[in-house]
Amino acid sequence: MKKLLIVILLAAAGQKAAAQRNQAAAAALVPLPVQTQWTNETVAISANTAIVTDAATAGLAVLLNTYVQEQLGFPLPAQGKNRIVLTVDTTLQLPPEGYQLRAANNEVRIAAYSTDGIVHGIATLRQLWQPQGKSLRVPGVTITDYPRFAYRGMHLDVSRNFFSVDYIKQLIDQLAFYKINNFHWHLTDDQGWRIEIRKYPKLQSIAAWRNQTLIGHKKELPHQFDGRKYGGYYTQDEIREVVAYAAARHINVIPEIEMPGHALAALAAYPELGCTKGPYKTAEFWGVFDDVFCAGTDSTFTFLEDVLDEVFALFPSPYIHLGGDECPKVRWAKCPACQRRMKTEQLKNEDELQSYFVKRIAKYIQSKGRKVVGWDEILEGGLAHGAAVMSWRGVEGAVEAAKQEHQVIMTPEDELYFDHYQSLYRTEPTAAGGYTPLREVYEYDPLHAAGDTALLPYIAGIQGQMWSEYLPTVQQANYMIYPRLLALAERAWSPRETRSYPDFLQRLAVHDTLLKTRGIVAPAVRHEITYESDSLERGGIYISLHTTSPAARIRYTLNGTAPDANSPLYERPLHITETATLRAALFEGQQQVYREFQQVFNVSKSTGARITLKAPPNTKYNGDASTLVNGITGTHRFNDGQWLGFSARDLDAVIDLGTPQLIKVVAANVLHYRWQKMWAPAILEFQYSNDGIHYLPMAKTKTFIINGINNVRIRVRPVKARYIRVCAKNRGVIPAGEYGAGGNSMLLMDEISIN
Ligand code: ACM
Ligand code: ZN
Repeated sequence: MKKLLIVILLAAAGQKAAAQRNQAAAAALVPLPVQTQWTNETVAISANTAIVTDAATAGLAVLLNTYVQEQLGFPLPAQGKNRIVLTVDTTLQLPPEGYQLRAANNEVRIAAYSTDGIVHGIATLRQLWQPQGKSLRVPGVTITDYPRFAYRGMHLDVSRNFFSVDYIKQLIDQLAFYKINNFHWHLTDDQGWRIEIRKYPKLQSIAAWRNQTLIGHKKELPHQFDGRKYGGYYTQDEIREVVAYAAARHINVIPEIEMPGHALAALAAYPELGCTKGPYKTAEFWGVFDDVFCAGTDSTFTFLEDVLDEVFALFPSPYIHLGGDECPKVRWAKCPACQRRMKTEQLKNEDELQSYFVKRIAKYIQSKGRKVVGWDEILEGGLAHGAAVMSWRGVEGAVEAAKQEHQVIMTPEDELYFDHYQSLYRTEPTAAGGYTPLREVYEYDPLHAAGDTALLPYIAGIQGQMWSEYLPTVQQANYMIYPRLLALAERAWSPRETRSYPDFLQRLAVHDTLLKTRGIVAPAVRHEITYESDSLERGGIYISLHTTSPAARIRYTLNGTAPDANSPLYERPLHITETATLRAALFEGQQQVYREFQQVFNVSKSTGARITLKAPPNTKYNGDASTLVNGITGTHRFNDGQWLGFSARDLDAVIDLGTPQLIKVVAANVLHYRWQKMWAPAILEFQYSNDGIHYLPMAKTKTFIINGINNVRIRVRPVKARYIRVCAKNRGVIPAGEYGAGGNSMLLMDEISIN
């Protein structure tokens, strides 16, 4: 009898566990809540389910009904047999924005300390319910949930490409669905001014427009243009509409008005605000431009204060973003008014003039009861008291700001810039650069890498950046935003300990479908094939392939043909001994899923050879010396792990070919990309030796003409040699007039091949 009872109990426990798994899998919550307990029950929401509110939540019944109506085609009544209860309970012991959601006994109950929490509970409910005929089915569950970070943000640049109010609202809907609570609206930049300012009509008639737009990537020279006038702006009514729409979803909208740099569009309209007085034109390509607001003339400040007055009236946001990034100082250095200002204000250099500029505007913003936020350059020359910093260039700005007890929002370009490529696939649409795959966003953990967790209390949160240079369509914008937004949302909200990428990917499959029902198709980048060079030996490399797909298997070819269901299955690392293009694809059974992956492996006499560096790379591009001879060529996604970066330091490498070899061609790649402070060497030189001590010259060049990857290839007088020395002389300090002038340039080198 006892045995039977145990068997029954075990069976019941097993069923319960299975139910838990089923419920959890079907619901696939993103971001994952803090605590979830599933039951076997189902609660139905139907025409006779009432939304029951209290004084605090009455307004939210309208919001909830908007969502119910989308699903069922009708709103819920205020009275009925079953209930959804929304209740603010100030005795609840929950962190800010926390909520409890319970679906049991034919009732859904969302309780929170504040209406913010109720809104998040509603977002969770929307992910829980599943339509079934004329009802929504909610799995039985008790959830206790609250965010890890108070600030969870998403940014969108509408200057480089302009997006309609409808699109902005759709984005805000998604932010609400994933519990992102700040929308950072990048409204002004060199390529277009997008906010109506009534006091300055030429912002609408001139600054909102550019005559044409660059075609292709900006590093492709010569630049080509489409010849079509492009532009637009949001009227103040439209802005109010967006702000109200966001507010109803408890999302704050932070406007960004860029200064002192990224101001060309405004200068085109009002040239008297620039140092040279123009004429200027709204930028037609992407980058950092020398013409910025003049810091010496008071009319600049009058203009910006007038603009801000209208901004304050439109945006209730506690924070106002004043940009502050990427401001070249070359005009200021030559402008009599700016120089006079430096004298009267006793400023030592133009960096301090930038600090003066930012502090002066910050003071104005603060005098109106608002707080200031800016990109991390606002730290330079001293930060205005009380200003918050968006740390985009890495972690140093964040650490510095936090040490000074400023609030910091982590917006690092390596991990949270969604204008980066999201895969290494060559078929990726043109993007700004860099490589930020979904996994990297998902695994982002602020300050932990820096080991400075004591500063974590100053980290208000994290934010994804969507710069729009390469987003000519809404489809492309969505392609870049989703699903990285979901990864961001989970990192911003869920406890650090719950991080599991495989589990996230499984839940993502459900969200693909959800996104599709809202017209957002971002299908491509779920399961990538990635590769690694496992080991090197002279004359060959071992390449292992990986996929994030739990279900699919990899088939590949090395003979140039497209992989199909009959191609070899990948089972063990591939030994590649001659130059070949790997083509690989994922197969579920006989069916190819996702896109084909291609990668060229270049095998030369130096591939896998022993290589030593006189001094190691000293930047974040600090891989092992062997990456210079691993057969894999660094790409425009310069954080692809292939480039080695040397700051204020030369590259001096010796390659030992093992035995003397006949050499006819030497080659190397260097990256010349001034907007990233990456400079080709002053001189690149190859030497040879047979004893490893005495070297003779073989080839050299000083010519690097391409803005991007320079593929240097020099035919040499044939010679037999065992040792090849490669010296690349760093360009040194970045010259005046260039982006980052006065700082150290970075020398980036990859694949050296000897044939
Ligand atoms: C930035 O990416 N210039 C903030
Ligand atoms: Zn000036």
